[in-house]
Amino acid sequence: MNDKLPKHVAIVMDGNGRWAQQRLLPRVAGHKAGVTSVREIIKATIEHDIPYLTLFAFGQENWRRPAEEVGFLMSLLLKTLKLETKRLHENGVKLLIIGERKQLSNELQAAIHTAEQLTINNSRLQLTIAINYSGQWDILQATQRWCEEVQQQSSAVPILTAEMFAQYLSTSTLPDPDLFIRTSGEHRISNFMLWQMAYTEFYFTEKCWPDFRKNDFAAAIDAFQNRERRYGFTSAQLLPAT
Ligand code: IPE
Ligand code: MG
Repeated sequence: MNDKLPKHVAIVMDGNGRWAQQRLLPRVAGHKAGVTSVREIIKATIEHDIPYLTLFAFGQENWRRPAEEVGFLMSLLLKTLKLETKRLHENGVKLLIIGERKQLSNELQAAIHTAEQLTINNSRLQLTIAINYSGQWDILQATQRWCEEVQQQSSAVPILTAEMFAQYLSTSTLPDPDLFIRTSGEHRISNFMLWQMAYTEFYFTEKCWPDFRKNDFAAAIDAFQNRERRYGFTSAQLLPAT
């Protein structure tokens, strides 16, 4: 067993709708209740001294949901961002929003800009929120930007390494996630950070997101600490030299 902490935890906060339906409440009540879990898990991340937390709040495929639910999610994101930014700032949290912004309302884009600018020099926790994000989109926008630069700079196509490519992803300032958590018993990546999760450890729990609490987060960290990360090596190669 190693006691290494993950540096970067990425979470798909799933099961809000089912949580509400199980309680005979409208789906949106689950989204609202999920905000409490977000607050608690940010606090827990800071308490564990984990420097990077990324939360998948809204995927590009989520626009397919009923307009009413999408509208509710967008206003909840706006409201929460406006309401929580000051407190996050006071707690040393640096905010980064990843995803295609152009499709978001002007008001939400402005709130994102304000929150990022206010917290830009903080360093206790880097909190990244994926809004209108898709892993395939990220790879495509990175490729597009790289091609545009190549076109401007030279006629010959330069060698492209994985490290160079990662500089064009929306997560260029973050280390790759060490631990991925998905709640609600679903075992999918759902177009989250596809490139970045090449060697991430996956952890799944049956609990729905609004029920996910500090002790559940601690259990995920515990499970992570019992994993052996081999990155293609054999187990014997990883043993410390005696
Ligand atoms: C996760 O909960 C929140 C978002 C995707 C925005 P869901 O809304 O996916 O809840 P279920 O999966 O329908 O229960
Ligand atoms: Mg879901």
